[in-house]
Amino acid sequence: MSTHPVPSRVQEGSPNPITTMHAWRETWMQAKNDPDAFWLAEAHARVHWRTPPTEGLRGSYHTVGDGPFSWFADGRLNVTETCLDANLGTRADKVAILWEGDTPGENRTLTYAELAAEVNKAASALVSLGVQKGERVIIYMGMVPEAAIAMLACARVGAVHSVVFGGFSAEALRDRIRDCDARVVITQDEGLRGQRTIPLKATADEAVQGEKGVTHQLVYRRTGADVTMVAGRDVWWHDVVETASADFEAVECAAEDPLFILYTSGSTGRPKGVVHTCGGYITYASYTHQTVFDLREDDVYACVADVGWITGHTYIVYGPLANGATTLMFESTPLYPDAGRYWDMVERHGITIFYTAPTAIRALAAMGDDFVTRADRSTLRVLGTVGEPINPEAWEWYYTVVGASRCTIVDTWWQTETGGIMITPVAPATPVAPGAATLPLPGIQPVLVNADNQVLHGPVSGHLCMEHPWPGQARTVWGDHPRYVSTYFSTYPGRYFTGDGCRRDASGYHWITGRVDDVLNVSGHRMGTAELESALVSADSVAEAAVVGYPHPIKGQGVYAYIVLQPGVDIGDSVEVWQKALNGVVRTRIGAVARVDKFQVVPGLPKTRSGKVMRRILRKVAEGDVSRLGDVSTLADPSVVDAIISGAGLSG
Ligand code: WT7
Repeated sequence: MSTHPVPSRVQEGSPNPITTMHAWRETWMQAKNDPDAFWLAEAHARVHWRTPPTEGLRGSYHTVGDGPFSWFADGRLNVTETCLDANLGTRADKVAILWEGDTPGENRTLTYAELAAEVNKAASALVSLGVQKGERVIIYMGMVPEAAIAMLACARVGAVHSVVFGGFSAEALRDRIRDCDARVVITQDEGLRGQRTIPLKATADEAVQGEKGVTHQLVYRRTGADVTMVAGRDVWWHDVVETASADFEAVECAAEDPLFILYTSGSTGRPKGVVHTCGGYITYASYTHQTVFDLREDDVYACVADVGWITGHTYIVYGPLANGATTLMFESTPLYPDAGRYWDMVERHGITIFYTAPTAIRALAAMGDDFVTRADRSTLRVLGTVGEPINPEAWEWYYTVVGASRCTIVDTWWQTETGGIMITPVAPATPVAPGAATLPLPGIQPVLVNADNQVLHGPVSGHLCMEHPWPGQARTVWGDHPRYVSTYFSTYPGRYFTGDGCRRDASGYHWITGRVDDVLNVSGHRMGTAELESALVSADSVAEAAVVGYPHPIKGQGVYAYIVLQPGVDIGDSVEVWQKALNGVVRTRIGAVARVDKFQVVPGLPKTRSGKVMRRILRKVAEGDVSRLGDVSTLADPSVVDAIISGAGLSG
């Protein structure tokens, strides 16, 4: 293990409970020995309860088939009282949200007092639209403060929000609206990124067309573009929110009431609506945000994700606000107007903690160091990365060039389902190693298992599972608890299976090797091969499709599609036109987030005699390595493999 020097000690008075490895070890053992006591103490210290819980965990991974396990079940709260009201005493005039719009220097700030008032107004407006406790509200917006206000307003009224990333298509949005049976959609006229507009309202209109269940769209005006407003259904944010009452009594919820649903891709079928609950989620968001980043009162904290993903939920909105931090919301892209945008923001706003994804780091590293070094980055203290394994080269660039070899890098491993960070260095206590997510947080008990669900010890590779629930863990899949049980708890009974492979070294550090299921990770975005395949086979020319990932220098993984054409279809020399059309279908079905990078037309797919596609072979070919294809004798037609290899321009 190569280690970097541990940067200077935390300043005096730091609230971070873990400042040394000794403290980490002690706290981790304490949490392992008595998880209930550990998490109840955190819940009591961090959360503003109406009725503090006396109960820790009820249920287990063994009983999850009978129903969700729970944390703090007798506690009652409204999450926004922790994020807003609790900060009004000492932080009323502190900036809660610092917004940087698409144009550099286009800023808005909302203090905690202002944010609380805006959330109350939005909550009043939602109630005037008939929104009730427990009902689902879809949020389909760009990165404007009103997206966070909309999330918090839902939480304030006890409604369950489901944010849908603006890069999803009308069809994908409609699927989600239907799945959670939402009646109200909150959107905006257009999104704006790098001077490119995203027609959010038009897409939402297409999604809700004919959907009798949707009674209202609440529309925030961002660009002023002309959009269609349907009388009786669509209302402008500035008409109903700005005039609404800033007095609103937060609706009391049970700890285990759902706070939000977030859809995420798996290895089979349609995206699942992962459900997070109020009390456990907010406890875990607050705990991890403070502990991992060594948060201090005067930090300017910037997570440049999108609120459409879990990273935005936990580390732009809920975690930072629960901790009374100043959190930046960024509307634009790292490349607009040039590749120095992030570091210019660091200089202009004095950012101290910066959190991004390996794909962005790789893309920016490829543009040269001048974009970084021209900016004053002396305020930076902690640099975070999330979303996919970070290659050591990208890690070194982040550490030496961006962080000037002065900052701690926290490589944070977690998932939509985990609610918050799980395996990570704790800044600045944990000695780091480039590419390692290092160690589990207190309360988190990872194990590596083999195919027989046996726990592996010592330095070893295996499938990453968790032994014990933690408060931030997703409780169920919306409307389909059996699917939750079969997805996460059936492969290794009694354990939560993450879907990731992992290597543990001699010092106990965890090195995540990536998904071991049929889930791709493209630019830190999770994508199901089944979803891509079903989009592709919906095209007229396609009889069968199989999708795999291959290593991509910037995106981490690229999407490689093997296509069997319908009989009689001849694409001749119009290959590019045909590929473009297929990607058009993918875009319509899933959205701009999804795109096939490489197509290969094949005479057939390598299937076993029972009809299962042997993806191992397809992955090898896509990786350009056909030296060890393994046993192909079980294939129904082994000659297909030769055709695929020569079609890919490789030799066996
Ligand atoms: C998958 C979860 C967690 C928010 C963003 C993605 C991969 C995530 C790391 C990391 C290696 C990572 C895993 C995981 N992943 N962080 N630091 N090192 N891999 O959330 O869309 O739910 O995806 O992202 O494969 O299973 P998600």
